[in-house]
Amino acid sequence: MAHEKYIITRRAFAVGALASAAGASHALAQSITPGSTIGPFYPAGYRGETDADLSRIAGHTERAKGQVIEVMGRVLDRNGNPITGAKLEIWQANTHGRYAHPEDVATMPLDPDFQGFATIHTGSDGSWKITTIKPGTYDSPIGYRTPHIHMDVSGMTSRNIMQMYFADEQEANAVDGLYRELGDSAPLSTAKALGDHRYGWDIVLIEG
Ligand SMILES: [Fe+2]
Repeated sequence: MAHEKYIITRRAFAVGALASAAGASHALAQSITPGSTIGPFYPAGYRGETDADLSRIAGHTERAKGQVIEVMGRVLDRNGNPITGAKLEIWQANTHGRYAHPEDVATMPLDPDFQGFATIHTGSDGSWKITTIKPGTYDSPIGYRTPHIHMDVSGMTSRNIMQMYFADEQEANAVDGLYRELGDSAPLSTAKALGDHRYGWDIVLIEG
């Protein structure tokens, strides 16, 4: 097994070296989206809806509280090729900054109309889209958290767990320790505000 891993690592290295050799002339070369901790609130025991609209639950008359937003983008490999059928697991806090998770002992209210979790797959052009609620901020054992959405993204051969931030939350982002740790790569983890409560974020995996 260790040997296999070594070969994969060497292959990834070779691909990287080729990409660098191509240099700036390879217009489509992409920077890989930074990874992040899965955090304590991954909904391992979740048994509810997983569709792309997190703001509504079938049979509920009320929609989730908070600002409804759309988030969309593509999943690409580092050469800029779209990844078809990539799986995205998505989870986030509600508008009050509370996760519907037994580990979240915060006193902010739960929202019974908020789905909080989704599993979606990219289309043939690598695109994905969700409708959700702008997540609230919260205080955690590691400090203040700016609004963010967690994603666990798998292509055929690579996977990365990441957090997506919002470009229109600069003040909150600036005081979030995890965001600050991203340093110069923060823009790769930050969704652009497209106006009208829509956000765009392309995810780049190391390989397809
Ligand atoms: Fe979180």
